[in-house]
Amino acid sequence: MESDNLEFILDHFKNPRNYGTIEDADFSYEEGIPSCGDVIRLDLRIKNNKLDDIKFSGTGCAISQASVSILTESVEGMEVSKVLSFTDNDMLEALGGQVSPIRFKCALLGLTVLKKALIEKKSAP
Ligand code: FES
Repeated sequence: MESDNLEFILDHFKNPRNYGTIEDADFSYEEGIPSCGDVIRLDLRIKNNKLDDIKFSGTGCAISQASVSILTESVEGMEVSKVLSFTDNDMLEALGGQVSPIRFKCALLGLTVLKKALIEKKSAP
């Protein structure tokens, strides 16, 4: 991992953006990876089909926590349909493209949880 990318990821791990909960969230969703025990919870507020607010909480390794912090900054204000088309590659690129394949599951946990949350919300009554 190049040092600039490492600094960028470490900064998001130490100073996570959008960390916390939303009291009047439209939807909350939590999921983790059983094999390592890491869990991410997302609180979402959607307005006019856009992701108006997003906050995360949970515990996990540096890559998973930094990734979800970076993800929240990337998708806040985005149309829900665009968020759903945000690819694994987009996420890896947002991380600077330097995460090793062995850590992909960590890097993609937040995006997986976010997509599942939006799909669950769509099918909620
Ligand atoms: Fe669990 Fe990274 S070790 S998400």
